[in-house]
Amino acid sequence: MLIDSHAHLEMPPFDRDRGQVVRRAKEAGVEIIVTVGTTVEDCRKALELTRRYPGVYAAIGIHPHEAKEIRDGTYDSIREMARHEKVVAYGEIGLDFFRNLSPRATQIRRFGEQLELASELDLPIVIHDREAHSETVDLLKGWKGSRRGIIHCFSGDYAMAKQCIGLGFYISIPGTVTFEKNEKLRSIVRDLPLESLLVETDCPYLTPNPFRGRRNEPAYVVHTARKVAEIKGKPFEEVAAVTTANAKRIFDIP
Ligand code: NI
Repeated sequence: MLIDSHAHLEMPPFDRDRGQVVRRAKEAGVEIIVTVGTTVEDCRKALELTRRYPGVYAAIGIHPHEAKEIRDGTYDSIREMARHEKVVAYGEIGLDFFRNLSPRATQIRRFGEQLELASELDLPIVIHDREAHSETVDLLKGWKGSRRGIIHCFSGDYAMAKQCIGLGFYISIPGTVTFEKNEKLRSIVRDLPLESLLVETDCPYLTPNPFRGRRNEPAYVVHTARKVAEIKGKPFEEVAAVTTANAKRIFDIP
């Protein structure tokens, strides 16, 4: 069994065949999928999916790309949704200084506010960090909350990974670990303990090999886990068991 710790099943690329996508995941052994809302509207859709599919859980929060859209009432909507029993995390939140779809100062302010809200709701957090490694680590260090969570789609270096693990975070490995040119991520995976790793798709994005170029979906997290097993020289079953236990622990899924 595997857990896809980060998917976006509520997004339009899955509108046509969402049921089949969830079924294919199950057939591939991916029995639990955490789908991550990025706007209030998408968080509502994500919750709707948790009602429809037993193996689907939700993370809710406002993505750094959408930070500029946060209004009066946005956080109240999130508070209300967080009462749902299948909400297992707050996120994804963080900083994206690569695409800069919201102004950097706004991203930083909204990230800080959402860290506080995650504390209030007592949820682990899911962090999005793109080209903002030192700023992200500084904000996490300064956060007085529980510091439980996941660095999703990890793209920092080994030193940053160690620092984040020391702060109480898991490191989530996406399908890009299968890309020919990504020796950097493979060397980080090699050096980190399996007890600190999760696997994810971030679908519909970041499709692993051998399907790169196609739409990604949760079933393909198998290829990421296989690559992690190959890198670490461990049986696939062990990687599946340990990353599943890690994900269940952080999301508090029985
Ligand atoms: Ni994502």
